[in-house]
Amino acid sequence: MEKIIDAQDLTIGMYVKLRQEWIQGTGLSKEFFITDPGQLRQIRNLSLRFGKVYIDTDKKWTPSPIETISHLDDGHNDMAPQQPVPVATRHRLVSNLQQAAADPSMTPMAKAAAVYQSARDLMQALFASPTAEFIKDSKNAIGSLVDMVLEDDDTATALLKVTSHDFYTYTHSVNVGALSICLAKKLFQHETGHDMQELGAGFFLHDLGKIRVPLAILNKPGRLDEYEMKRMRIHPYQSFKILQETSQLSEECRVIAMQHHERDDGTGYPLRLRGEQIHVYGRICCIADVYDALTAKRSYKEAMSPYQALSIMRNEMLHHFHKEIFHNFVLLFSK
Ligand SMILES: [Fe+2]
Repeated sequence: MEKIIDAQDLTIGMYVKLRQEWIQGTGLSKEFFITDPGQLRQIRNLSLRFGKVYIDTDKKWTPSPIETISHLDDGHNDMAPQQPVPVATRHRLVSNLQQAAADPSMTPMAKAAAVYQSARDLMQALFASPTAEFIKDSKNAIGSLVDMVLEDDDTATALLKVTSHDFYTYTHSVNVGALSICLAKKLFQHETGHDMQELGAGFFLHDLGKIRVPLAILNKPGRLDEYEMKRMRIHPYQSFKILQETSQLSEECRVIAMQHHERDDGTGYPLRLRGEQIHVYGRICCIADVYDALTAKRSYKEAMSPYQALSIMRNEMLHHFHKEIFHNFVLLFSK
């Protein structure tokens, strides 16, 4: 419900709708959740000129997850210390991906294969050493891949066909990143206000927190016990935390990491969010993540074909997803 209130009564977390004269030259969006004191001050200053403010009381901001979930992190980390990747190697990996993504001479299939391989090499090294500098460099390289997906439909389609189905975390990250950015392109093609570069990086880095989950748990073929499950289910928060600690990505794109295992019916983790509480970016990543898990080969299961995976998602798991986003995801495979 829309309400008009005095700007002095605004608080962080309210959803404001600003008229055109409010936003000209201010850098503010037309409507948004107030998330920091600077925005609050800016709106209050503007209200001195333009008067009262519209808010939408139906829109509820989910508080920054770090406050609501940090109690789950027991600080336990039994991973081996990581060796930093030499600067020259880092630069070579980044440059390989950038060059492959910008190469005009290859056929779509050859280019997709080269981009995929370079992205996989980059993510493998990044997972071995996720320093702030490396995350930043990777974000720039992923930006080139995003540009290619946005500009070149044929190579974007080919990219969905060259994905590998082993189940290394870095392979999964590239698959989910590529699928998610193709889906985001389809969903947001007539919208503005999405930073696709930032978004692409969020999709590729959604599982970074798995570096804090022991491999014995990550790769365990059987059922996880209660402790192992707890360690596993905290990885979205750990991904979010790594991105926050290294000051990478906007808060909105860090939420991809935090929410990619939430489910529309409230059965996901770590916060058991439901429906509208889950950001659209988290919902996109969730669908790509499930699809890639189903089509991956594991030690205890064969890989499903794309048709089998999509059928199971539609017939048995649809309550986990936003239906319209899932419908658009299926259309990605119709070419
Ligand atoms: Fe995950």
